[in-house]
Amino acid sequence: MKKITIVGAGRVGESTAQILAKEELCRELVLLDIQEGVPQGMALDIQESASLLRFDTKVSGHSNPAAMADSELVIVTAGFPRKPGMSRSDVLDANLKIIDSVVDNIVRYAPESMVMMVTNPVDVLTWYVWSKTGWERRRVFGQSGALDTARMASFIAMETGYSIKDISPLVLGGHGDAMVPLVRFSDIAGIPLEHFLDPQAIARIVQRTRQGGGEILSLKQHSSAYDSPAAAIAAMVDAISHHRNRILPCVSILDGEYGQHDIAMGIPAVLNENGLVKIIELDLNDKERREFEASADMVRADIERLPHRETA
Ligand code: LAC
Repeated sequence: MKKITIVGAGRVGESTAQILAKEELCRELVLLDIQEGVPQGMALDIQESASLLRFDTKVSGHSNPAAMADSELVIVTAGFPRKPGMSRSDVLDANLKIIDSVVDNIVRYAPESMVMMVTNPVDVLTWYVWSKTGWERRRVFGQSGALDTARMASFIAMETGYSIKDISPLVLGGHGDAMVPLVRFSDIAGIPLEHFLDPQAIARIVQRTRQGGGEILSLKQHSSAYDSPAAAIAAMVDAISHHRNRILPCVSILDGEYGQHDIAMGIPAVLNENGLVKIIELDLNDKERREFEASADMVRADIERLPHRETA
């Protein structure tokens, strides 16, 4: 890609910028934040690592949203992070105002871009950005499943001792405590998880995955996770920028898939240079479907609190 903008020079924004620059996933990378000086200093710091880390990506920091002009992808990380004891939904009200002005700027300065939402609650805010822009759903999606799945893979590797490279889990649903780790669709080298792990161990992995973000937050106290979220964002950017047709769990607008309408949820999707081009619908069993629906109910409860677009 020629140009990517990251909105929000917080920790997730910074870690993401480091990876995207180092991996040369775009020629020009813009870090944008309203706090004058912070994105400029952060970008310069990353740019000064270029000769050591051997990359040609041009990194710059700005406080004027006009700097996002002509971006092909805008990654939105701006917002208040969770504090210990807060759920992702608790941050909704505070972050809605921020996202409102971010969307206005994207529509004004980067009207041809794709938008990857990261700010929490990510499902609700992905829906909000899609609803506010009225853009095709392939252009508006969110990151959560890539991270949740990576966490589940780590926990499976810890329990079994096998290489993470052979572990392929799947997590669906909203990015909250009701997310749905799909054991039936998770394997090690193509062999179902049940072959290696007893039900107690699998239950531990499922539970720890659901609380993965909270576990980091309660350990660090003053910060949510940022290194693994940044790596998850980079995996999605890599799929887009190299036109890979990767199948990754993404937050997507659902239009009848999984029995859901007018909502954004984590599902497996195909990502390439045109964005989120295809939703993969799985044949869930009753238990999985019930869990998915419970997760959807929580996302929908938040969506219903939001201002709705007047449909034409
Ligand atoms: C997490 C938060 C940031 O999952 O959503 O780490």
